[in-house]
Amino acid sequence: MRVVTIIPTYNEIESLPPTITRLREAIPESDVLVVDDNSPDGTGRLADTIARSDSQVHTLHRQDKEGLGAAYIAGFRWALDARYDVIVEMDADGSHRPEQLPQLLKAVSNGADLAIGSRWVPGGRVVNWPLHRKLLSQAGCMYSKLVLRVGVRDMTGGFRAFRRRTLERLDLNNIESVGYCFQVDLAWKVSQLGMRIEEVPITFVEREYGDSKMSGHIIFESVLRITQWGILTHWRWLRGLLKH
Ligand code: GDD
Ligand code: MN
Repeated sequence: MRVVTIIPTYNEIESLPPTITRLREAIPESDVLVVDDNSPDGTGRLADTIARSDSQVHTLHRQDKEGLGAAYIAGFRWALDARYDVIVEMDADGSHRPEQLPQLLKAVSNGADLAIGSRWVPGGRVVNWPLHRKLLSQAGCMYSKLVLRVGVRDMTGGFRAFRRRTLERLDLNNIESVGYCFQVDLAWKVSQLGMRIEEVPITFVEREYGDSKMSGHIIFESVLRITQWGILTHWRWLRGLLKH
């Protein structure tokens, strides 16, 4: 299995080097792709320096900060072109522990089309998160589960491994989510295609350096889109019932 781990970055100059070092130690066979949105703090240049000393590390530079969704879609296209078998999503800030990636890869090699590192299944944990972040994440997960009717507990989680075929079957040109609801969007689309999603318990550790990019705008987009998707699916379901 050829594996690539995509790490999106925006102002992660302190967090990125230790994250790459830990990842390369934990899974030496995984290549790395850093997708940087022209970080003002120079994260992109630092990633280039690391790439020059390690042939398994690659970089993709984007002109503007266009959100997590857009960065991942660019990374997915790069990874599909480069013929990887498994494509991993991982945050740069150390919250996703590279040492737990083997468990996600195992789920994929055992047949899952998408493995999600999950904070909200038995065995999953969150370390050092303030109460308001816990509540926000749990509310977001509960709302998406309720409205979209997908049996995944951590719909917003961003530590994931996709089988290549899973991404090939998603229409990457048709994904409009900009912020973190991109994660909900993908899980929902994979589930609608009838593919197998497996949740693997992880310990999510709050970052030590830098700041979260979570914002009111990201929350607003998530609530709006998830509600729209919910109405759309329920409406189709209702129309189906009325036809019979
Ligand atoms: N290239 C790029 N462009 N990267 C971005 C952007 C962007 O616009 N916005 C965020 N990132 C990168 C960050 O640099 C980091 O590596 C990762 O995306 C996650 O961002 P954080 O800002 O650290 O997210 P968080 O810790 O608040 O959010 C966590 O919870 C979310 C909700 O559960 C993460 O696990 C998210 O993946 C998750 O969706
Ligand atoms: Mn984070």
